Amino acid sequence: MPAFTATAPGKVILFGEHAVVYHRPAIAVPVQKIRVRAVVEPDPRRRPGQVHILAPDIGLDACLDELPAEQPLAATLHAVCRELGISRVPACRLRVTSSIPVASGFGSGAAVSVAVIRAFSAFLGQPLSDDRVSALAFEVEKIHHGTPSGIDNTVITYAMPVYFVRGQPPERFKISKPFILVIGDTGIASSTSLVVGDVRQAWQANPAQFEYYFDAIGAIVQAAREAIESGRNEDLGRLMQENHLILQKLGVSSPELDHLVEAALSAGARGAKLSGAGRGGNMLALVDGDLVERVEHALRTAGAVRTIVAPVE
Ligand code: PMV
Repeated sequence: MPAFTATAPGKVILFGEHAVVYHRPAIAVPVQKIRVRAVVEPDPRRRPGQVHILAPDIGLDACLDELPAEQPLAATLHAVCRELGISRVPACRLRVTSSIPVASGFGSGAAVSVAVIRAFSAFLGQPLSDDRVSALAFEVEKIHHGTPSGIDNTVITYAMPVYFVRGQPPERFKISKPFILVIGDTGIASSTSLVVGDVRQAWQANPAQFEYYFDAIGAIVQAAREAIESGRNEDLGRLMQENHLILQKLGVSSPELDHLVEAALSAGARGAKLSGAGRGGNMLALVDGDLVERVEHALRTAGAVRTIVAPVE
């Protein structure tokens, strides 16, 4: 039995985070430069049924049966076995490595799930379709996030820009003119489920106000899709500004994120906003090709622990 390898990219949410939890649309794009790699290979030294899991990035070196069922990697492997109706797997070793920063809005949890589901199902001789990979990764996302919208597993599985509405099949759309995002990472870990929970509480306390915000974000996402499809990229900067302003009102920005957004704009970015759950994690800026280095430099000077250039095409 040979080794099976699968990789999955990171992602950023371009428009629509948080409102997407409340059934408004969002747009997310893959970030190909950062990836998870999962390799499953036979391990003849072990008994049938044993899966040895190595994930050096998180210091994990354990056998599947030693892990609690809700441990995300264990949950992922169990989900694949259930899906394929397999009760006893051949003795094997799973190795997971990743260049995606964790808890930073890059979808690292979903990327791990997608890569592991693909590699493990292929190893078991029944590679799963993209739809099933995404659905199983969504089940695991619920352990990480509580009430995920499903956008992370979707954009990472299909590895292309998606227009996403919770509970509906993802829509691909045309990128008429490629554009460049410069991502700045605050380096501050942020818990998506905590921030999503805080927004939920605020929404429950003031539903009319928050529904108004979510509608406004939904309208921005719609306008952004139309701009991207018709090649009016110059509109995107303004839409990013508007989206960031509403995210501030939702209470999910932070002084560090606002500072990076300001730094990118001062360096000539056409627009900038926080991306993902907020309170930490990353922000992104829309940048003309000749200003990329200048904006990256400005972001690092303003405190970004890393910058990533992500072409959207
Ligand atoms: O995982 P993050 O940080 O990219 O955030 C997910 C985006 C939210 O809209 C805040 C939550 C969700 O499930 O869509």
